[in-house]
Amino acid sequence: MTLRQAQGPIPLIIDTDTAQDDCVALLIGLLDPAADLRAITMVAGNVGFDQQVRNAHLTLAAAGRLGEVPIHLGCRRPLVREWVSAENVHGDGSGGLSIDEEGLEVSAEHGVDALIRLAAENPGELRIVAIGPLTNIATALVKDPDFVRNVGELYIMGGSNNGRGNITAAAEYNFYVDPEAAKAVFAAGFDITVIPWDPLTLRDAVFSRDRLAEIAEIGTPLAAFFTRIVETTLAFDESVGIPGSTHPDSLTAAVLVHPELLLQSSLYAVDIETASDLTRGYSAMSWGVHDLEPNARVIERVDADGFLVYIRELLTSAVVPSRSIRGL
Ligand code: BDR
Ligand code: CA
Repeated sequence: MTLRQAQGPIPLIIDTDTAQDDCVALLIGLLDPAADLRAITMVAGNVGFDQQVRNAHLTLAAAGRLGEVPIHLGCRRPLVREWVSAENVHGDGSGGLSIDEEGLEVSAEHGVDALIRLAAENPGELRIVAIGPLTNIATALVKDPDFVRNVGELYIMGGSNNGRGNITAAAEYNFYVDPEAAKAVFAAGFDITVIPWDPLTLRDAVFSRDRLAEIAEIGTPLAAFFTRIVETTLAFDESVGIPGSTHPDSLTAAVLVHPELLLQSSLYAVDIETASDLTRGYSAMSWGVHDLEPNARVIERVDADGFLVYIRELLTSAVVPSRSIRGL
């Protein structure tokens, strides 16, 4: 028995703009016995708030856990900017799949309040996997002065480690959409781990068409769900020269739950550009030679083959969907 199993599953919240790989990250929280997903909090990002909520319900259904983990609706727009869509990348975020929505519910508690309450109920224990713009996290830290201290660890998908952006040359989408939130979060004193877009995701979390075909052959409803939801983003990725589907959000959940996937990381001083239009949302990651106090651990290398094997194993699970999934 590993130390983790002896300690029990990891209590966590996934703060998400649910589309495509966010759905895969949710599957990790919902299906991996090493994870104890307490709540899903929704934030404005990828594909429009209401569609994201549909995608989260759909994913709960695909995992056979509809109604078991609450969805809390959080901030419907960035702190000070207009929302920026990524529908050109993700379509509706679910490959056109849907379920009968009759009787589906979301929690009456706001996402920010759920984050604050669950952190306060488990001081130092709760992990947050933040895989969308950081609006909910920034709002929670403004609302509750104890929030930063109560959160055990904050895993953030965002930025690039002195590399390329994706929505602009300079910026990765999550930080671009709400740069003020990202800046506030990195200045707040959380115990932060960052999973960046470039180079980490682009090198270690891209699944080629050959690998995706092997996943499709698994033949479970979960594998069919996965294959379908990644299709639109795969086409976009290939159109911009990336040789496969990208999985930054599921990588973020995976390295939290399975730190053995982690091969290399370093401490950095991370700050986010908010003043410039040209470099809005750029993440400056200073690697220790500029006399700046580190505020985050940035993941530099993961076991890419191990990550793919992990996702395949997850999708091998013979889960029966909670509701029939239209379009599968
Ligand atoms: C990030 O932006 C979103 O489109 C993805 O879900 C991921 O969180 C990658 O830049
Ligand atoms: Ca996301």
